[in-house]
Amino acid sequence: MVAVNLRTTALTAALAVLVDQTTATCPSRFAWENKVLAQQAIDSTDNAELFSFGPVEGTPANTKIIGGLPRPRCKTFPGDTHWPSNSVWNLFNQTLGGALIKTVPLAAPCYSDWPQYDAAQCEYVKTNWNQPRFHVDDPTSAMFPLWQGKTCMPLDHPSQIYDNCTLGGYASYSVAVTNVSQIQLAINFARATNIRLVVKNTGHDFADKSMGAGSLSVWTHKLKDIQYIPDYTCNGHSGPAFRLGSGVETEEVYQAAEANNVTVVGGECRTVGMAGGYIAGGGHSPMSSLVGMGADQVLSLDVVLPSGRFVTASETSYPELYWALRGGGGSTYGVVTSITVKAYPQIPVSTLGFLFATSPNVTADTFWAGVEAYTTYFDTFSAAGAYGYWLIVNIGPGQFFFSMNPLWGGNMTLSQFQPLIQPFLDNLAGLGIPVDPVWNEYPSLYQAHSGTFPPENVGGADNRAASRLFPRDNFNNPAKRNETMDAVRYAVESGGVVIGYNIRVAPNSAVNQANSINPAWRETTGFFILATAWPADASAAAIQAQSNMLTNDWMARWRQVSPGAGSYMSEGDINEPDWQQSFYGSHYARLLQLKKKYDPTGLFYAHTAVGSEDWEVEGQLPGLPTQNGRLCRKL
Ligand SMILES: Cc1cc2nc3c(=O)[nH]c(=O)nc-3n(C[C@H](O)[C@H](O)[C@H](O)COP(=O)(O)OP(=O)(O)OC[C@H]3O[C@@H](n4cnc5c(N)ncnc54)[C@H](O)[C@@H]3O)c2cc1C
Ligand SMILES: *[C@@H]1O[C@H](CO)[C@@H](O)[C@H](O)[C@H]1NC(C)=O
Ligand SMILES: *[C@@H]1O[C@H](CO)[C@@H](O)[C@H](O)[C@H]1NC(C)=O
Ligand SMILES: *[C@@H]1O[C@H](CO)[C@@H](O)[C@H](O)[C@H]1NC(C)=O
Ligand SMILES: *[C@@H]1O[C@H](CO)[C@@H](O)[C@H](O)[C@H]1NC(C)=O
Ligand SMILES: *[C@@H]1O[C@H](CO)[C@@H](O)[C@H](O)[C@H]1NC(C)=O
Ligand SMILES: *[C@@H]1O[C@H](CO)[C@@H](O)[C@H](O)[C@H]1NC(C)=O
Ligand SMILES: *[C@@H]1O[C@H](CO)[C@@H](O)[C@H](O)[C@H]1NC(C)=O
Repeated sequence: MVAVNLRTTALTAALAVLVDQTTATCPSRFAWENKVLAQQAIDSTDNAELFSFGPVEGTPANTKIIGGLPRPRCKTFPGDTHWPSNSVWNLFNQTLGGALIKTVPLAAPCYSDWPQYDAAQCEYVKTNWNQPRFHVDDPTSAMFPLWQGKTCMPLDHPSQIYDNCTLGGYASYSVAVTNVSQIQLAINFARATNIRLVVKNTGHDFADKSMGAGSLSVWTHKLKDIQYIPDYTCNGHSGPAFRLGSGVETEEVYQAAEANNVTVVGGECRTVGMAGGYIAGGGHSPMSSLVGMGADQVLSLDVVLPSGRFVTASETSYPELYWALRGGGGSTYGVVTSITVKAYPQIPVSTLGFLFATSPNVTADTFWAGVEAYTTYFDTFSAAGAYGYWLIVNIGPGQFFFSMNPLWGGNMTLSQFQPLIQPFLDNLAGLGIPVDPVWNEYPSLYQAHSGTFPPENVGGADNRAASRLFPRDNFNNPAKRNETMDAVRYAVESGGVVIGYNIRVAPNSAVNQANSINPAWRETTGFFILATAWPADASAAAIQAQSNMLTNDWMARWRQVSPGAGSYMSEGDINEPDWQQSFYGSHYARLLQLKKKYDPTGLFYAHTAVGSEDWEVEGQLPGLPTQNGRLCRKL
């Protein structure tokens, strides 16, 4: 047990409010970003070692943890001798101003052995489980429960790995942070006590990278500030910009942009956290074919480093971090507190929706000829600034449907959009594929987004996905296109669902695009997600077989027809082979070097994050890398 004599009153009283002086001409930080932890506050407690900053970046790492113990190979886990006592957690909570939350799984009301058991509340949980919002608003839940071992599902789930509601891969505690000093305290406490640290924003990551058993979680959800800066002049940009707290969701930014008659680059999902994993992973957008990726719009970021220090990353301040934080992945170099992004004048958006399917008149071959016809336009459409979001679903042996959800003409009126798209619809008609096109024109991105994108369901534990960034040549070169279409058709005929995007990452001279976004993004015109599903009562062995088929058969064919290309880390395969190459490409070596410099003890870890090859989670089922075990450095 840690000896405790923490004089929390002294600590709180001495917390200095520092004013940011690093960016004189740039907009100042949010008020809560000036609430920082001062060295003198730490020095004035008897338990300074619980909250001390780490060594300055680039100097040797501290090999000792609290009590002068050598840093162990594994993170300290609940039940271990050195796991903090309740009194330490209580004092930590007081130091945080009461922001510490002990984890109660979201579905605990469905389990009679939890004090939260409540049949009516359980019904509510069941009804809402598939809504992203339900998980976003919870401190620890995430949207892909397979990766926490399905330990506390709201439904009687025959394939549940454990029978009862346990914490599984959920964090043990989380901190609902509302200022920077709380993030610094959490980081310093986790480093000193050798507890696993995770960062949760919304929980949208396909691999549940915001989870981890026995961890302390920094929950960024309450950092909701949005500041519109109409005349930003800093960091080489002059014009409109937004400063966004890292808990802000996509739709909240779209609404703020609408209110100010400007446009921002964000994704298609309403609840994804814009300044968290979205920007960290690169961030694709209906705007990408016009002005580039989400991370391409970032002018500066404020971040609490693994040492606990709070810095600004921009072209002139920590430029190497500025490079790494824009594309190098979340939960790797620190906790981002806010970002500043470029905004654009408002644009008109035209959209097209339609469906086609196999039928007595449309054979499977004709159907696939229709899909292939679309791919021949990928280059033309995306070069003109358009973006497409579509689905291919297997609806029975030899039967498929294709749904365009929508084809999106950014910065185009209908009179500009229709002539661009019409040749494709003529091709479909020529193939004998009837479609009933629904055209719309909107005055802004927000209105087009609200009017067209369907709400999405999450929370399922009976499916998983992988993805590929196909280079444009896969569609422009007829022989390669044939091979690509064969590989796609094979996967769909075998039961896969394709969620596809036609996107080109446009060059944009107005912002700094020298960042760490996976270079494969800059070559692609077709980003394809491939999902597989299994019956709810499938055995662990059957799930594993299906899972392996996705990675080692369906996706192997996709990789084979696109050698050297990549995949998108935020919507990727949890078992992606050679993930360093697939998710980071040629940037990996530099990203790893920076990881070792800024986080020498491996405080930040996420599955397939930079540097994660040095670590493993114990007790995993083969092929199903859950986060339920203890995190250890590999031998
Ligand atoms: C339904 C759905 C639709 C999607 N649509 C799109 C889309 O249109 N475009 C697109 O590009 N992506 C899309 N995604 C993927 C999405 O961008 C990623 O899942 C992204 O990582 C989510 O980030 P988050 O912060 O909201 O979620 P989280 O899952 O909470 O976080 C993701 C990762 O980032 C880390 N992280 C979060 N906040 C911070 C922070 N402040 N500092 C440091 N690390 C942090 C977490 O630790 C975790 O590793 C979609 C995902 C889903 C489920
Ligand atoms: C940060 O917020 C907590 C909770 O409101 C508060 O107790 C604490 O004093 C704040 N920190 C500073 C430095 O103001
Ligand atoms: C932290 O303190 C707050 C306020 O006193 C309390 O509501 C909360 O339950 C405490 N958290 C823990 C983990 O004890
Ligand atoms: C699950 O909980 C029930 C009731 O609390 C208990 O009887 C049962 O043994 C538990 N099952 C397992 C696998 O722990
Ligand atoms: C919005 O911006 C456009 C140009 O980008 C301008 O024509 C229009 O008048 C603006 N509308 C409002 C309400 O400010
Ligand atoms: C199929 O084609 C026939 C002949 O062209 C036509 O009459 C019929 O309406 C078509 N059916 C469908 C479902 O499109
Ligand atoms: C939209 O088009 C206008 C000209 O038609 C151009 O000036 C503007 O830069 C474009 N905006 C975006 C975001 O591409
Ligand atoms: C690819 O070419 C082969 C051989 O010509 C042909 O059998 C196959 O149908 C083609 N695939 C597609 C998708 O056109």
